[in-house]
Amino acid sequence: MAILVTGGAGYIGSHTCVELLQAGEDIVLLDNFSNAKPEVIDRIRELGGRDFPLYAVDILHREGLEKVFAREEIEAVIHFAGLKAVGESVAIPLDYYQNNVTGTLNLCQVMARHGCKKMVFSSSATVYGTSTDVPFREDSPLSTTNPYGSTKRMVEDILRDLCASDGEWSACLLRYFNPIGAHKSGLLGEDPNGIPNNLLPYIARVAAGKLKQLSVFGDDYDTPDGTGVRDYLHVVDLAIGHLKALDFARSHKGAEAINLGTGQGYSVLEVVKAFEKASGVKVPYQMAPRRPGDIATCYADPTKAKKLLGWQATRELEEMCADTWNFTSRQK
Ligand code: NAD
Ligand code: UFG
Repeated sequence: MAILVTGGAGYIGSHTCVELLQAGEDIVLLDNFSNAKPEVIDRIRELGGRDFPLYAVDILHREGLEKVFAREEIEAVIHFAGLKAVGESVAIPLDYYQNNVTGTLNLCQVMARHGCKKMVFSSSATVYGTSTDVPFREDSPLSTTNPYGSTKRMVEDILRDLCASDGEWSACLLRYFNPIGAHKSGLLGEDPNGIPNNLLPYIARVAAGKLKQLSVFGDDYDTPDGTGVRDYLHVVDLAIGHLKALDFARSHKGAEAINLGTGQGYSVLEVVKAFEKASGVKVPYQMAPRRPGDIATCYADPTKAKKLLGWQATRELEEMCADTWNFTSRQK
């Protein structure tokens, strides 16, 4: 039986597919390519060392999903497919609720009809909202400040209700902190369309000479150097976390929220410094006003992941920056 990976051509999904294939799992990859390039598929095949079925299907299209489950023997689903830009979600909330919530409802209904009741879901540290009670633990209070975050919280609730209604379901709700980095080969990484919103892709494009300078959003936060602190984790560590979560979902029932982060926070200026060291390239920056909606500090308490999944991040910030640079400097 195979693992269905929705959104498998995306940034985190592609790295997870490679790890799954290398671990001997059979996969079926589904993506609508709204935020991914088709050439990623060949790279996953090359790095994973094996072929797999690919479906260019939208999770909003029920018949398409039905077809996949009718043709393939799916044991469990790792569900990455979703829209993820916070600012865009404020501008087009209905698209976000439809894609992320309705899409997941469709998927769960089709899964249930085919007796497939194990899911690993991409949630986000954004469900902790503007709380200042760091480090965030899974039982910290939840709140959201934008439609994107609300879709993640809603899907978590849906999966909890589903597991409560039917004891055969298991759902791992993985709350990612800030995934960065790229595959060692330089063949997979994060290459957003347009001007990047996130820190690392922005820094990498400044270093590559494609953007003039970084704007550091706020230098008056209550942090050691005044700039925002986040828990950056290597995308390959994150991918491996999904294999551990899959094993957990295979051997446990019910819904479980689990943080995937390192437990260590770095400021924007510390990241700039680490990137310069790893790349050997200067990253010019200027101080700018705070970005609306940002919080000062966000990092995980990763104890639960270690205890339940036996997972712990192993890659350091400098390696994350070096791998980001190795990938970005190859892009045209
Ligand atoms: P991504 O955009 O690179 O990957 C998402 C993939 O899903 C893309 O390939 C896209 O084409 C596909 N997709 C979107 N809507 C679809 C639909 N309706 N049907 C089929 N495919 C669809 O994003 P990513 O960074 O790899 O994130 C993966 C998941 O992790 C997302 O759900 C995201 O919200 C979540 N997440 C990401 C981060 C982050 O910082 N990258 C942090 C927390 C949570
Ligand atoms: N930052 C800058 N300049 C930039 C971009 C970012 O100074 O050009 C700063 C931000 O103010 C923040 C830090 O860099 O202090 C990290 O910002 P990102 O945009 O990279 O990441 P966020 O922590 O804001 O959010 C990310 C994802 C969310 C997800 C969250 C989970 O974008 O979707 O991580 O922790 F929910």
